[in-house]
Amino acid sequence: MSGGHLWSGRFDQAPDPAAFDFGVSFPFDRQLFEDDVFGSLAWADALGRAGVLDAAAIARIKDGLRQVLERGRQDPSWVAGDDEDVHSFVERQLVALVGDDGRRLHTGRSRNEQVSLDFRLYMRRRIPLLQARVRALIAALADQAERSGEALMPAYTHMRRAMPVLVSHFLLSHAAALRRDHVRLAVAMDEADALPLGSGAVAGTGYAIDTAALAAALGFSRVVPNSMDTSSDRDFAVSFLHAASLAMVHLSRLAEDVIYFTAEEFGFFDLADSSATGSSMMPQKKNPDPMELVRGKAGRAIGHHVALLVAMKGLPTGYNKDLQEDKEGVFDSEQTLAVSLDACTAVIAKLTLRPERTGKAASGLLLATDAADYLVRKGLPFRNAHEVIGRMVRELLAAGRDFDDLSPAEWRAYSELFGDDVREAVSALASVKARRTPQSTNPDAVKAALAETRAWLAAQG
Ligand code: ARG
Repeated sequence: MSGGHLWSGRFDQAPDPAAFDFGVSFPFDRQLFEDDVFGSLAWADALGRAGVLDAAAIARIKDGLRQVLERGRQDPSWVAGDDEDVHSFVERQLVALVGDDGRRLHTGRSRNEQVSLDFRLYMRRRIPLLQARVRALIAALADQAERSGEALMPAYTHMRRAMPVLVSHFLLSHAAALRRDHVRLAVAMDEADALPLGSGAVAGTGYAIDTAALAAALGFSRVVPNSMDTSSDRDFAVSFLHAASLAMVHLSRLAEDVIYFTAEEFGFFDLADSSATGSSMMPQKKNPDPMELVRGKAGRAIGHHVALLVAMKGLPTGYNKDLQEDKEGVFDSEQTLAVSLDACTAVIAKLTLRPERTGKAASGLLLATDAADYLVRKGLPFRNAHEVIGRMVRELLAAGRDFDDLSPAEWRAYSELFGDDVREAVSALASVKARRTPQSTNPDAVKAALAETRAWLAAQG
């Protein structure tokens, strides 16, 4: 076995399996297979430009790498073996195909920079797929918002009815958070967008590698500024994990809203049968399992984020094997976010609004602020208005009534300032129409927000 590793020459003894197997990363870093091959194809050219390899050797190496890529793509199960990591696997297969030229490929290069390269290429390849899923969920929310028209519902603070809003405003509130996730994913991708090759193991490489040309060949917009920083830098992975965990937090909150708004006590929306599961015992049950799972899975993504920060915090400058802990969390967070986005999109797309229920919940005593604003418009200071309406609310509650039941005379008993128009002014629709700012639930503002969302989606392709 001592001949089987990339570094065997230095050692007298074969590795102890208890130590070697512990350090193996191939079972998970095989996901970087394609990226590793693309990096090596470009590295072969870079060695050519540096005068290390001649054209014929480069051609044989690249031909061999393409065969390796082809085979791995056709049969992913072939990308396996007792290699230490994916870099060793690709090199072993290349040497098996082209012999000594394959042994020349690693000239001037370290796995420390290679793994950084592969991981950066992976991010660039995979993050856009997550962003497309984020957009699909935003589109589902926009479709529901459009369908809900001018339906009203209560907005809550402290989980108590606060003020009436359009249902579309509520739906677009979740779209607004997801838009930030879309940006945050782009920021993580931008952070990964720097070529680490040329850094060597830690001090830089001794060959005349044209890093600008290599960066361009691999599609990077820039080259890293410092080889020592680069060998221990996983900030881009942390940024991705942060973006993914915060996106999962947003999905978890969306899920929570769906869970209680579809519960019997609210009945604001109906969950489609296809979005729910039944109970093995209680025939009446229709459970929102997919939403509960999304809420539950947010914890894993947060855990992966924290785990990598903790793994990195005490590291001395330069590569340390601890950094191998960067990958599994990223892969799992990526997968968790992808399936959670899909589940949310499916559930949201098939929700049915019950506007009579949401509208009823949006009327009554939550119009108290509008009643106070009415008095303010008539010249009463807000503090006094708050007190007048507070007394009304207390007495109406005791009598089991609300604003809707009051005659003009009853209104006037509380304040001379109440005119006959008060009933119209103190209604849920009047309340939303009275909001004025662009971010408010004013129907024109919400219409504009919906149009902006549609235009943004269209511009993203
Ligand atoms: N499997 C390693 C990782 O994921 C690759 C780099 C190994 N470098 C080393 N010096 N052992 O970080």
